[in-house]
This record gives sequence, C-alpha cells and structure tokens, in this order.
Amino acid sequence: MSRIVYVNGRYLPYAQAGVHVEDRGFQFADGVYEVCEVRSGCLVDEEPHMARLGRSLAELAIPPPMSMAALAHVMRETVRRNRVRDGLLYLQVTRGAGPRDFAYPPPEVERTVVCIARPRALESLEAQATQGIAVKSLPDIRWRRSDIKTVMLLPACLAKEAARKEGAQEAWFIDSDGFVTEGASSNAWIVVDGGTVITRQIAPDILAGVTRATLIEGLTRQGISLMERPFRISEAQSAREAFITSATNTVMPVVRIDGAAIGDGKPGPITRQLRSKFHQFAATSVG
Ligand code: PDD
Repeated sequence: MSRIVYVNGRYLPYAQAGVHVEDRGFQFADGVYEVCEVRSGCLVDEEPHMARLGRSLAELAIPPPMSMAALAHVMRETVRRNRVRDGLLYLQVTRGAGPRDFAYPPPEVERTVVCIARPRALESLEAQATQGIAVKSLPDIRWRRSDIKTVMLLPACLAKEAARKEGAQEAWFIDSDGFVTEGASSNAWIVVDGGTVITRQIAPDILAGVTRATLIEGLTRQGISLMERPFRISEAQSAREAFITSATNTVMPVVRIDGAAIGDGKPGPITRQLRSKFHQFAATSVG
C-alpha cells in the first residue's frame, strides 16, 4: 500500500514528502504535536486532542495554521487516504521555516503542518498487554513546561533508550523530591490497597494526557475511587498494580519497576478491567 503524507496543503507519497531544511521544528524544536489512536477507521477522542493542540499552540504563541475544524479534516482525510483501520495518527505543527534566528519569524511566515497515519498490528499490542511491561526510573531532566506537547523529546528518547537497554519498555521520570512525574511518553498510575487508583495531579510538570482524562471519567462510571497525588517508586513497587496510559497504549499494565515485581508480577484485575473497557469510555469520531 503506497503511503500518503499531508505536508503544507498537499497529500504526497511518503518518499516525496519533506519540509524545509531551516524548519524551526528541526532547528529549535519550535513546534507541537498530537498522537491519536485510530480504531476501526475513526479517531479516538479527537475533540480533546484538538483542544490540547490548540492550547499547546497558544502557550507557545504559534498562530494556528488553519481552523481547528480544517485541521481535523486533514487528520481524517489522512486516515482515509491511507485506509488505516487500526493504527496511529501523528500531527505536527511548527512555527515555520526561515534563516536561522532565535527571534520569531514575521507573522506572514506559514506554519509547517505534517500529518502521518500508520496502521499497526493490534495482536502484538495485545500480546504485550497480556504480559505487562517493565519500567525503569530516571531523573526528570526535562524543562518545566512538560504540560505543553512540544516536539522537544530528547530527554524522553534518552530515557527510553536507557530503559530499553535494561529490558524495560517505558521510563518513569522522578522529580527532585523523589516523586514520579510521568512516563517518557505516558502517564503513570498505581492501584493501592483498597483498590484506590492513584495518579499525579495535573500541573506544568506533566502532560495532561487525553487517555488519562478519559480514564478518570471511566473510573467514576466503574465506581473505582481515584486520588490525584504524587507517589514514589517505593510506593509503586509495593502497590497492588501499576499501569501507564497513552493514546498509543490506552491502558498498559506495568509488572516490573526497576527490577521489582508488582503484585504477583502479572497484570492486575483493575488494570485489566480498565483496559478492556477503555474504548467504551472514549469517544470515537465518525470518519
Ligand atoms: N505521548 N505524558 C507524556 C510525556 C506523553 O508524551 C504522552 C503521550 C502522555 C499521554 O498522553 P495521551 O494520553 O494524550 O496520549 C503523557 C504520545 C503518545 C507520544 O509522544 O507518542
């Protein structure tokens, strides 16, 4: 299947799609992005993803390249042209291109917009969810605005690579007080005695995950109690269950943290329940 990518107003074959050598995303990480799950050809939780994109753009004073409705159209059209049934949609907007200069370019410079849709095999994701993943903790060396979904992901790449070298699939960042902030590309959760679900409260030091927000609504529907507060690795290691959330994983069980097994080392019942019900909580847009 020939893949089609949206770049700055055109749908192009993957191999021919490109951006300017002096794009500010490339030189300064001066851009933002979203990743949405595609399920049965529909975007999952499109609205909150668009709302967060709008917020990220506003926080960086990047003028929206087009209306949010037009951007949503590009996203759906990219999914449609690639005939993606189950997969992921990536949308990136940068401040645009121009001779390298720290100061912002003049307002007439067009933003760069790229949209990519990819199918993925759900079987391998399900196999991973059946087993659960391992996590490695690392100091959170990111900037203090992790609430903005920028493409400045080098600390996340370094952390994930360090985790991978130790056989772990995700890294959990630890703040200067010893508390978990979030995963390198996910939000972090534990389930403690009594079945209460814990995740860190929203603040500038974490990303307000769309999956996180959807799951919180789902918890209420399931009658599961939630506490939004920080937790340490030691608490997570002695928790009943642990998991991560993201558009790429929905709810993914964590069975090992820094080498220590969580519970009996298998995905826990609350995590499994939340994973199986997640798409009932989420909104899917019509294609
Ligand atoms: N990452 N925290 C961080 C640092 C993230 O990068 C992500 C998502 C999340 C979860 O957000 P959401 O539930 O909206 O996907 C939390 C995406 C999936 C990525 O970079 O691939």
